[in-house]
Amino acid sequence: MHVVLLGPPGVGKGTQGELLADALGWQRIVTGDLLRAQRDARTPLGQQAQGYMTKGELVPDPLIIAMVREQLATFPPGTSVIFDGFPRNSSQASAFKMMLETLGLTVDQIAVLDADDDLVVERISGRRSCPTCGAVYNQSLAPPNRDGRCDKDGTALFQRADDEPETVRHRLEVYHRETEPLIEYYEGSRAAVHHIAGDQAVEVVQTALREALGVEVGAS
Ligand code: AP5
Repeated sequence: MHVVLLGPPGVGKGTQGELLADALGWQRIVTGDLLRAQRDARTPLGQQAQGYMTKGELVPDPLIIAMVREQLATFPPGTSVIFDGFPRNSSQASAFKMMLETLGLTVDQIAVLDADDDLVVERISGRRSCPTCGAVYNQSLAPPNRDGRCDKDGTALFQRADDEPETVRHRLEVYHRETEPLIEYYEGSRAAVHHIAGDQAVEVVQTALREALGVEVGAS
């Protein structure tokens, strides 16, 4: 099964994708996380990507497509994968389709997490992340047990540079212009497209997501 999570920045794609993958034993390809890992490791790809990410612009398609192809190749055949943050525009969607077709695979389901811009700006402004394990918190909505410290390893949490309000607004513009049209693209494809209200509590969204995808914990 290949599932694409679509939705604006901060709607909860990462939060929901992680819960789903952990519960079902699925893999995830999270292009934002892959890029941040490359940037932190100061690889040539990370250095090329950094400027785009800081400004809230999309990283050039060839870099992204090569990165996703490489990651996908690490999974054994038959692996179920959640794609979070990819594809992000029509050319990535076309390249993705071809990439899967050459492997005899398809995009099966699209889950669109819906929420209005004001809500996602509020969520993003409170987001704090752990630099050690990548756990994500929210200062007001999902705070850690100890203020400013990761529950899992105690590391000091940080705010992503692209979570500054001005950059968030630009990321939203890019989302509406480049990524949102993919909903219509996939509605015209063989993939099943599901809309899930992302403005509910984390557990409620997760339940709705599982119901929409028709998956049960323990299945693969
Ligand atoms: P990326 O990391 O993909 O950012 P994004 O799509 O903007 O998504 P976010 O990670 O900001 O949000 P999310 O929806 O995962 O929300 P989360 O679960 O964290 O991309 C970053 C950059 O990388 C891009 O701008 C671009 O430069 C580059 N890039 C990445 N992919 C690319 C591609 N394919 N092509 C080109 N460039 C690419 O939740 C947010 C907050 O809300 C958290 O604090 C969380 O705790 C809280 N929260 C979540 N759900 C709930 C809930 N239900 N109730 C209350 N709080 C909640």
